Amino acid sequence: MSKRFPLLSVVSAVAAVVGTGALLAGLSASAATGEGIDAQALLQKNCTSCHGSEVYTRPDRKIHSLSALQQQVEFCNTNLDTKMFPDEVNAVANLLNKEYYKFGK
Ligand code: HEC
Repeated sequence: MSKRFPLLSVVSAVAAVVGTGALLAGLSASAATGEGIDAQALLQKNCTSCHGSEVYTRPDRKIHSLSALQQQVEFCNTNLDTKMFPDEVNAVANLLNKEYYKFGK
């Protein structure tokens, strides 16, 4: 394969590097301000396959502090292998806190 299509693999390697660079540039721009992260969309996209919002509101929910909430989001993120960036995890945790948990800072 690689012997037959050396050019193809070079082209796709370059495309991957350029694509990642563009993505990182976009992310670091939003990371600086925390703006430009659509936590609602991340939640919809990444978090509704295993459970809906019912786990956040159930009477015997496990999460009892903001830091535990952040850890849980991080844990689910790792399980999921969606590789959200730390500021995205934070944004999602903050959204859940605002909408459901309402812990003080
Ligand atoms: C791979 C399946 C899976 C995905 C996808 C997933 N979770 Fe979870 N999540 C779980 C499981 C399992 C629990 C524990 C449920 C239990 O203890 O009954 C849980 C529990 C939670 C809790 C705690 C609820 C409580 O008891 O207060 C939060 C918060 C949470 N998830 C957030 C998220 C967020 C945010 C995402 C998206 C990043 C996400 N989850 C995606 C499996 C998943």
